[in-house]
Amino acid sequence: MKLLVVGGGGREHAIVKKLKESDLCSEILCAPGNGGIAADARCVPVAATDIDGQVELAKAEQVDYVVVAPDDPLALGLVDKLAEAGIPAFGPSAAAARIEASKVFSKNLMKKYGIPTAEYEVFDEPAKALDYIRAKGKYPVVVKADGLALGKGVLICESEEAAREALHEMMEEKVFGASGSRVVVEEFLTGPEVSVLAFADGKTLKPMVSSMDHKRALDGDKGLNTGGMGTVAPNPCYTAEAAAECEKTIFAPTMAAMAAEGCPFKGCLYFGLMLTPDGPKVIEYNCRFGDPETQVVLPLLKSDLLRVMLTCTEGKLSETPVEFSSESAACVILASGGYPEHYEKGKEISGLENGQLPGGEAMVYHAGTALKDGRLVTSGGRVLGVTATAPDLAAALEKAYAAADNISFEGLHRRSDIGRRALEALR
Ligand code: AMP
Ligand code: GLY
Repeated sequence: MKLLVVGGGGREHAIVKKLKESDLCSEILCAPGNGGIAADARCVPVAATDIDGQVELAKAEQVDYVVVAPDDPLALGLVDKLAEAGIPAFGPSAAAARIEASKVFSKNLMKKYGIPTAEYEVFDEPAKALDYIRAKGKYPVVVKADGLALGKGVLICESEEAAREALHEMMEEKVFGASGSRVVVEEFLTGPEVSVLAFADGKTLKPMVSSMDHKRALDGDKGLNTGGMGTVAPNPCYTAEAAAECEKTIFAPTMAAMAAEGCPFKGCLYFGLMLTPDGPKVIEYNCRFGDPETQVVLPLLKSDLLRVMLTCTEGKLSETPVEFSSESAACVILASGGYPEHYEKGKEISGLENGQLPGGEAMVYHAGTALKDGRLVTSGGRVLGVTATAPDLAAALEKAYAAADNISFEGLHRRSDIGRRALEALR
């Protein structure tokens, strides 16, 4: 099969590498891809959000199957457009992608179907939102922009004054653009966070191994929120008991709810969960693989990824085994200094040969790299993800950090405490 992977980050690199292991895969294209993905796939410079361009590319190249990885093209209906052109694809329809693209949609879905989540109200006027916050009088309170905001549309407000400021920025100054026209105001939850990605075929859902993201830029969970600075899998907080409860109260009900709403979910459904003292609750859904969760989850997948994806598209997931290794995986992100704010690009990366570590002790997934006159340079905020697997988490972390020590570029920033909380939870 000739495949096209849409996107160009570390997640897409991990997907490309895993798809290549399938004996069904004969050729793989990635659009737009990046300098490191180019070692594994033919990269074509079509932006992920160029919906017509992606469909044209798939047609012109006579691609057999497309994997749409990022949220934007999913929300823009790329999977629907490909279906109209007769090309099957992995990922939800635009209608089903609303589970991520609209927080109002997902919160209302959870309320209607009794899926546990933070208590909330939706507002399109800042004054009404503030009245509600004042009447509740409970801080911190969480204010979220309705639409996609690059993971930055969530503000945790410690006081009425902070909430007033957040509402003003989102709804009046529109710092997140149209995404902030409507907001969700919700109760602040506490407890360990767990990411669970799951394969879904519209009816059946099969969870992947759990993981833990590290969203803040600096050690000790300080600094700004980022796309994610590192991950570990499995997440030790996610016990068999928690998993069973999530299956019963969250996973199965979400699949049934989406089907009942006329938008059955096919693709990768990502549950951002918080294990609160009152049981697991949904913090957010994503309609796609997480980044950098994918960089620790897929290396542990023992089953053929392409076959599993095809059965999701065909609605036959229940017939397919999805198996994971019992090992652990850790991914450390190497970012550009200054990320997630201002950072420089074009810094030469040293320590890699053909984009990988010569010793092969870890896998290097490229997130923001480019080839310039044959040299590999930085081209984004998150530059590389270094993933190692080992029989236990401590060993995987040690391996990933030891491997990462061999890579350098000017301004390199990484967290030095990825997995620390997970290790503490294991004690
Ligand atoms: P989101 O973009 O929805 O994933 O939110 C980003 C981060 O904000 C989450 O990973 C949580 O750490 C935090 N967060 C979001 N909603 C809540 C909430 N209701 N209570 C506590 N923390 C939250
Ligand atoms: N790592 C969080 C996300 O992909 O949304």
